[in-house]
Amino acid sequence: MRYPEMPAHLDPIRHEAWLDDGRVHQEMQTLRQNFPVCWYAREPYRPFWVVTRSADIKEVMGQNALFINEPRLVLVDKAVEEATEQALGGRRYTVRTVLDMDGAEHQTYRELTRAWFMGPGVVKLQLRIEALADRYIGVMREAGGQIDFAHEIASQLPLRVILSILGLPETEAPFILRITQQLLSSADPELQRSRQGGADVMPEVAAYFGKLLAERRANPQDDLASVIATSLVGDEAIGALEAISYYLLVSTAGHETTAASIAGGMLAFIKNPDQMKKVQDKPALMRNGANEIVRWVSPIRHFMRTATEDYTLAGVTIRAGDSVCVLLPSGNRDDAAFDAPYRFDIERQSEGHVGFGWGGHACLGRQVALAEIRTFFARLLPQLESVELDGAPRPIQSNFTGGYKSLPIRYRFRDA
Ligand code: HEM
Repeated sequence: MRYPEMPAHLDPIRHEAWLDDGRVHQEMQTLRQNFPVCWYAREPYRPFWVVTRSADIKEVMGQNALFINEPRLVLVDKAVEEATEQALGGRRYTVRTVLDMDGAEHQTYRELTRAWFMGPGVVKLQLRIEALADRYIGVMREAGGQIDFAHEIASQLPLRVILSILGLPETEAPFILRITQQLLSSADPELQRSRQGGADVMPEVAAYFGKLLAERRANPQDDLASVIATSLVGDEAIGALEAISYYLLVSTAGHETTAASIAGGMLAFIKNPDQMKKVQDKPALMRNGANEIVRWVSPIRHFMRTATEDYTLAGVTIRAGDSVCVLLPSGNRDDAAFDAPYRFDIERQSEGHVGFGWGGHACLGRQVALAEIRTFFARLLPQLESVELDGAPRPIQSNFTGGYKSLPIRYRFRDA
């Protein structure tokens, strides 16, 4: 046994723990206070360190040569890891995204899309986001005062934005939604396709995005799928596996996370009507408020790193080759990083949160995500007279991405 080990009565790693938001945050607070870097050796995973304080998370994620992504990016059941390794002749993953890469190779592949994400791509997208926000506010109006907000609104808007980014028609929405849920929420019995951690969805995904790659190579359009399809890595065209993986990453990473933020943001406004009133009076507050929603919701619960050298973190020695799991929602409730971290405060300066990660792999799509959250709430809230829960929210059971399967609300528009 290694010291310090996570006490048996605490377990924010279990998928089920995330069904009880209050309790899981309490457990992570206890870890931050007493066991900020602790060893976790429980089924069904290979053992790893758990890191819960904001500064320690940044220390790990900010040092990309000391803590690398490739060997182990997320928690997967060890039986599934072993079966995949066997099937793939030693490799652990069927796809290889920019998130699975390190060092110079990561830089090269990140650079292929960075300019698009940081510049003209996002500027052009703003008009589309505004139109989509108005469309889904219209859907709420038509629904007549009662709707499952998670299902009908929060998960639909980001899905359409991703389709626009990739240049896919709206008819593809059900397919992208299904593969995202089956891959990212594979621990939820209602969303999973099987107990294989999403690995069995891959052949279908590879065939779909392989076709998109061939189409964009033959006939490039004004979209990110074409930017990727026609990019050069060194002197050669990007490999098919890498391009398909890029498509998969953009369609999954960009959708479920933003949907979770919009649903979680709505719940936060319902529970904090004073904050909603502020945005109703001054919608421009959402410019800052979008980041506070991402801090508050922290839709990605964990990422993993592997130490390349022995390293001492918060007084604990992590050995070369050890895996480290950073719990991002924990860092975002750390009172050493934020005043009154359990208060949802739309005017808070939340810039230093780790919801989008930190360091060399920090989210490429953050400007897109923030634009969606900001635009939607800045347009919707001033039109609402009232909004309240209309039943219990049903969270997704997952230690990876969090959102809601269902968020029933009742509301009245001011001019209704
Ligand atoms: C609120 C919404 C979002 C959240 C919370 C989020 C969170 C994250 C996090 C935590 C990482 C870092 C992973 C790591 O360090 O290992 C990341 C990376 C990434 N995200 Fe996001 N993301 C969001 C939206 C988006 C969107 C909308 C897109 C694209 C349209 C996107 C594309 C990416 C990509 C391509 C990377 C990989 C960057 C790299 O490895 O260099 N994300 N995201």
